[in-house]
Amino acid sequence: MTLLLDSPLDMHLHLREQEMLRLVAPFSAAQFAGGVIMPNLVQPVDSLPRLRDYRAAIIAACGPEPFTPYMTLFFRDYSRAELLAARDEVIGLKLYPAGITTQSEAGVADFDRIGTTVALLEELDIPLLVHGETAGFVMDREREFLAVYQWLAETFPRLRIVMEHITTAEAVAVLERYDNIAATVTLHHLMITLDDVAGGLLQPDLFCKPIAKTPRDREALRQAVFRGHPRLLFGSDSAPHPRDKKECCGCAAGVFSAPVALPMLAQLFEEADCLERLSAFVSGNARQFYRITPPQKPVGLQRAAWRVPELYGSVRAFLAGQELRWSLAGSGEAKV
Ligand code: NCD
Ligand code: ZN
Repeated sequence: MTLLLDSPLDMHLHLREQEMLRLVAPFSAAQFAGGVIMPNLVQPVDSLPRLRDYRAAIIAACGPEPFTPYMTLFFRDYSRAELLAARDEVIGLKLYPAGITTQSEAGVADFDRIGTTVALLEELDIPLLVHGETAGFVMDREREFLAVYQWLAETFPRLRIVMEHITTAEAVAVLERYDNIAATVTLHHLMITLDDVAGGLLQPDLFCKPIAKTPRDREALRQAVFRGHPRLLFGSDSAPHPRDKKECCGCAAGVFSAPVALPMLAQLFEEADCLERLSAFVSGNARQFYRITPPQKPVGLQRAAWRVPELYGSVRAFLAGQELRWSLAGSGEAKV
């Protein structure tokens, strides 16, 4: 059995720089027509020259495989002139609360002061992508942040807002309430709970921000995604860290899921008996909310099992060592 997807998109992706970029970008380019590129580099992508350099480096790292990097600028105070100049080259601005996750120290420390820039985004019709966590108790951070999303949605009704990588039932409820809000959902948050991360031996490869939540939360995400909510978009949040930064004292947050993203999604949708909804989740919904038309790129999946390698270079991938039922057509993956 094969499945043909029309220009699949990964709407939340960390590709890093240099050697790591060259290692990981080909996995995304092999599966997706494009992706939304996160700007949290060691030095954040917060100017047009840096954004252009980074886009060029990504395209070079993808080699011959066509892949459209939909670029984001790191949220700070921008002038109207800066945003006007950037408008045609970005898919949105990405807002991080200061210090909340990997390389977010330059993020927002005072939400009372973001209104001017956010009003400009609304006026210029530039989407705002948000890492929605407070600095509260780790299991409550997303829930506590929901008030900020509601304030944004009501104060700036024409602004398109994306709640990135939602993990809670309450976030799904907020999504239902506001037409100007969409949300990305990762592969791993559809699969794991806190128990998988820390219920037995600690699993650094599953440690990420936001942390995986309860079975009830995971079920709410699954229900909403598998029933085909039109404003839920696939965003892997694939976030590679070298093994020595994961398997150490002070494990970095991030799950490297790029190599398994589409095959594992196909398996989940098949298990939920809704394979026909996969295409909207990985492409149609994003095109509609972001009003983008990616270049035509059909991607085939086949029902042929393979085993996920233990390591990709210096990085351990999500589901390393496990057997997956679907593979990329023509991928030449070692079959099991
Ligand atoms: C991401 C990273 O490593 O850049 N980590 C993560 O746990 N998801 C940053 C982020 O999206 O929070
Ligand atoms: Zn991320």
